[in-house]
Amino acid sequence: MTLVLGIESSCDETAAALVDGNRTIVAQRIASQDEEHAPFGGVVPEIAARAHAERLAPMIEGVLADAGVALSDCDAIAATAGPGLIGGVMVGLVSAKALAMASDKPLIAINHLEGHALSPRLADAALEFPYALLLVSGGHCQILRVDGVGQYRRFATTIDDALGEAFDKTAKILGLGFPGGPAVEQLAREGDGKAVPLPRPMIGSGEPHFSFAGLKSAVMRAHDSGKYEIADIAASFQQAGIDCVIDRLQIALNAMGPVPTLVVAGGVAANKVVRSALEELAAAREMRFTAPPPRLCTDNAAMIAWAGIERLQLKDFAPDPLDIAARPRW
Ligand code: KG4
Ligand code: ZN
Repeated sequence: MTLVLGIESSCDETAAALVDGNRTIVAQRIASQDEEHAPFGGVVPEIAARAHAERLAPMIEGVLADAGVALSDCDAIAATAGPGLIGGVMVGLVSAKALAMASDKPLIAINHLEGHALSPRLADAALEFPYALLLVSGGHCQILRVDGVGQYRRFATTIDDALGEAFDKTAKILGLGFPGGPAVEQLAREGDGKAVPLPRPMIGSGEPHFSFAGLKSAVMRAHDSGKYEIADIAASFQQAGIDCVIDRLQIALNAMGPVPTLVVAGGVAANKVVRSALEELAAAREMRFTAPPPRLCTDNAAMIAWAGIERLQLKDFAPDPLDIAARPRW
């Protein structure tokens, strides 16, 4: 049975996991740095890099111990090589290089977005290519057509902020702390999504791209006006974001040609209201809908190990060279 060690350190989660070819997450550990970054209201790259450097090696030892396996039992070492905060990416990638070298196993450098893009196949064995993917995280907001491992066609991206970033900024404006997405979702349950008039940027545009900077500014103005309850602002913001996503997806899906399945991945995919809106859209278009469980939506190492397994199973698989560079942008 194929067994891959995965390492993730591109943002503020330090994570290691062992995943096998049967889609079993044999072991995984994850350490969030929320406490370190909370006083600053966002991720501080220098603090993140130091925390990854302290935690990663003992975490990898721990994951191997949890599974009762040795490094020599792994078929490959997969690590995020970008995009992300460069200091953190370097910690993970250099660790993976050292382990690959010491154990004489192949190194697989994974694009973090590819990890998110393939994560639904780890959770759902029935998910075949091609599928339409909405990738919504703190750093990215894209619509892709996934035709196979390494075969991604992008139909939409954001011209400014990502949706997760808009959730985080809204949380900051409303004084909900960091990370913002789950806090906004929770408060929105007590609010009225129609109470605050907010814009839906890009709706009506024939191109499927996203823009959320104007929505964030409108949230700020609504809050500063003192006219609204913060729960109503949270709910109205969430609704506006969802309306944008659904409209943009319609345009992209029309351009994409027939695909049987709609898939969502990335941190914002953990949001239940977002998920159910997407489920409705899929049903209306007679598409199947699938989303990984929330713990596989936010950053984790199981998705990186899984992307490694998918790469390893390609007919033309070749390990990455030990001099491969960490890439802040990719
Ligand atoms: O994928 P991820 O863990 O990291 C990146 O690659 O960016 O995504 C993190 C983002 C954050 O912006 C966070 O606020 C958002 O996902 N997020 C959510 C929820 N859980 C996480 N946004 C809305 N609702 C949630 N429940
Ligand atoms: Zn991510």
